[in-house]
Amino acid sequence: MSVKKAVIPAAGLGTRFLPATKSLPKEMLPVVDRPAIEYVVEEASRAGLRDVLLVTSRTKKAVEDHFDREAELEAALERKGDTTRLGRIRASAELAEVHSVRQQAPRGLGHAVLCAAGHVGDEPFAVLLGDDLIDERDPLLVEMLAVRERFGGSVVGLMEVPEDLVSLYGVATVDPTAVGPAGERYQTVRIRDLVEKPPVDEAPSNLAIIGRYVLSPAVFDVLRQTPPGRGNEIQLTDALRTLAHLGDDAGEPVHGVVFTGRRYDTGDRVDYLKAVIRLACERPDIGGELYPWLEEYVSAGGPKADPGP
Ligand code: G1P
Repeated sequence: MSVKKAVIPAAGLGTRFLPATKSLPKEMLPVVDRPAIEYVVEEASRAGLRDVLLVTSRTKKAVEDHFDREAELEAALERKGDTTRLGRIRASAELAEVHSVRQQAPRGLGHAVLCAAGHVGDEPFAVLLGDDLIDERDPLLVEMLAVRERFGGSVVGLMEVPEDLVSLYGVATVDPTAVGPAGERYQTVRIRDLVEKPPVDEAPSNLAIIGRYVLSPAVFDVLRQTPPGRGNEIQLTDALRTLAHLGDDAGEPVHGVVFTGRRYDTGDRVDYLKAVIRLACERPDIGGELYPWLEEYVSAGGPKADPGP
């Protein structure tokens, strides 16, 4: 059965961006001039997943509204004849069929995914985490869907990270040889074990889970039986670990696609700013003005430069 649905957990508190996120959901922080979550919904839609479920919480109404039509604003832009902006706001409402479900308590990523069970039903589905943006030129999700098609089971996006950062991620133990057919851009590996945020000296590898998953519906039953793990939260990594251990006997293999493209972490303040600067410099309508300014600012010594009179 092919994958049609994407689930985007968006219930997190965004404490790292306080006070900006006191009343604004972190998913609405602009990356250049679009909210971060729009990039993620667009990625799902581009990969053919036109049914998107947002797992939100009480404070996330703005996220739900963003993907809805806004009749008053549309009428005002129409009266002004501003067709460019009109097109852009309509586009966000037409990207996908966006649904939402509430996660009643912050009980972890595994619990957020379990909240999607009713909507997803007995079908494979994708999960995209909003803190990770994948450059639209790099087809990670599309390749992960092809791997699911080929092997069944579940597929996780992996990326090599510097060893001192492994404790921020779920970390995989994989078979030494890749199984992906030649011609794919990224290697596919068989996952044997997973551990959520291990201490640096206990990490089995530096292959970190990045926020892209294609999951078998079998994960729901496993999640229902997964006790709270790291941080006293129900961890998706722990459920995938159970599936990886069940393996072929249960017809539930877990594969990893080792991504080597461009990923922007927007969950951390400095990485978020790097993503905004980089994407803005690469935008034809903005970069032409921004990049020369940035070069000038840096060559003048950046913050060390004399601010002048
Ligand atoms: C979550 C997952 C973790 C994964 C990470 C990717 O952690 O629990 O396994 O590596 O996303 O961004 P979080 O960043 O939400 O703490």
